[in-house]
Amino acid sequence: MESDGPTPPALTGEAVRRPRRRDVLRGATLGAAAVALAACTPSGGDRARHTGTSPGPRTAVFPAGFAWGVATSAFQVEGATTADGRGPSIWDTFSHRSGAVADGGTADRACDHYHRMDADLDLMKSLGVTSYRFSVAWPRVMPRGRGAVNPAGLGFYDRLVDGLAGRGIQAVATLYHWDLPQALQDAGGWENRDSTEWFADYTAVVARSLGDRVTRWLTINEAKIIAQQGYQTGQFAPGRTDRVASGRVIHHLGLAHGRAVQVLRAQGVTGAVGPCLQLAPCSPADDSAEAKQATDLADVTENTLYLDPVLRGSYPTALSAADPEVARGIATALRSGDLETISTPVDFLGVNYYSPQVLGAAGPITRYPPSAAGWQQIYPSGLTDVLLRLHHEYGSPEVVVTENGVPDAHGEDLHDPSRIAFLRDHLLALHDAMAGGAKVRGFHAWSLMDNFEWSNGYSQRWGLVRVDFDTLRRTPKDSAGWYRKVATSNQIHPA
Ligand code: FCB
Repeated sequence: MESDGPTPPALTGEAVRRPRRRDVLRGATLGAAAVALAACTPSGGDRARHTGTSPGPRTAVFPAGFAWGVATSAFQVEGATTADGRGPSIWDTFSHRSGAVADGGTADRACDHYHRMDADLDLMKSLGVTSYRFSVAWPRVMPRGRGAVNPAGLGFYDRLVDGLAGRGIQAVATLYHWDLPQALQDAGGWENRDSTEWFADYTAVVARSLGDRVTRWLTINEAKIIAQQGYQTGQFAPGRTDRVASGRVIHHLGLAHGRAVQVLRAQGVTGAVGPCLQLAPCSPADDSAEAKQATDLADVTENTLYLDPVLRGSYPTALSAADPEVARGIATALRSGDLETISTPVDFLGVNYYSPQVLGAAGPITRYPPSAAGWQQIYPSGLTDVLLRLHHEYGSPEVVVTENGVPDAHGEDLHDPSRIAFLRDHLLALHDAMAGGAKVRGFHAWSLMDNFEWSNGYSQRWGLVRVDFDTLRRTPKDSAGWYRKVATSNQIHPA
């Protein structure tokens, strides 16, 4: 596809000598932690007894100004997919394909947040949150992805950020959460290098409209999942199964991220700017050399493939061994100067954490308790691991946890003790990472309310607030009340 471009430079820059991750984690002393967090944690004694590997009842106090948030994305909650000039996205197309989504679900109506935004903002306010992470739907703003701007679409987000400001809630805006305009997919989508400039132009439009009121900008949500699910397994839109193409897509998403950072800065936005990466700590299932090797390779495809270009300006050296086809795709797309663009300095990192990966010689295994989302193992200390890794190996960037959560356990509805335990344990793990020096500025629970969970449709409920998808009535679950207490007191109490 890019073969007529200049000779691609090497995939990697200078080899960076860095401590091995397991050493770092072992060395991340919670003793130093106690000192670091003393200023914001009166109950250091409680915390000192806690090892970071077995979260349990204890008190944890968060620093003043810590952002307590909830998260959603446009396609999952808005509905109103043809209202006011919105164009179709790849997820509209994909979800209408027979068999693509559980129970034939679509997001045509979803939570109808588009028509209920004011009430939903009141709901957020009643939860005591101080930050809301949402995404802007590209096909609402530019129905064909490029060219004409749709003022009604832009107007919705304008009212949303004003509504947040009026309620004292920070706006955390994601520019791309998977809903590529279908017209752009028809022109090659993220496989086409031009996508990076389409995205830059769209970013400029949004920045001109919202740039004075958004506290944090996130460029692209989870390039990893776009590549793996959208282009490798084909379980997500656009439903492709071509690993080499997924490599090109990964590169173009990185480049689009870098261009968006540049555009946001050029537009003079007042908020901080960063990527949104889903990270998964990898560890071996046993002591065998095979498991260790599988772990090192998985760490590339789960983490460093996305971290290194953005934060170090290079692709990981082990990429060719970890995934030769992806490496080939990237090599065909890479042009001189690209890595400089991808590594344009950012202000912070958005981190989504859900699950670790445990690798045996024969592939991933399940070591920790699985949640109702088939792919998720519940391992709170994994959040400490990823945050401390960023602190020790990536220059300690400022971090905001932009997603973390769990679906209702089987049989749960308004009473969701398993979600309370999940959030409590992950917040304690986050607190441990802060005690170890990680600069974490906020946390966003996924999700504000039950919504369209991609290929799982409405079969998984991830919300603090229950949504009745017949009446669209919203009812806070027990976890919403628990989270409210945490957010408004800025601390976790032993329960
Ligand atoms: C993340 C997505 C988010 C949601 C959660 C459960 O990977 O970013 O939209 O679906 O998973």
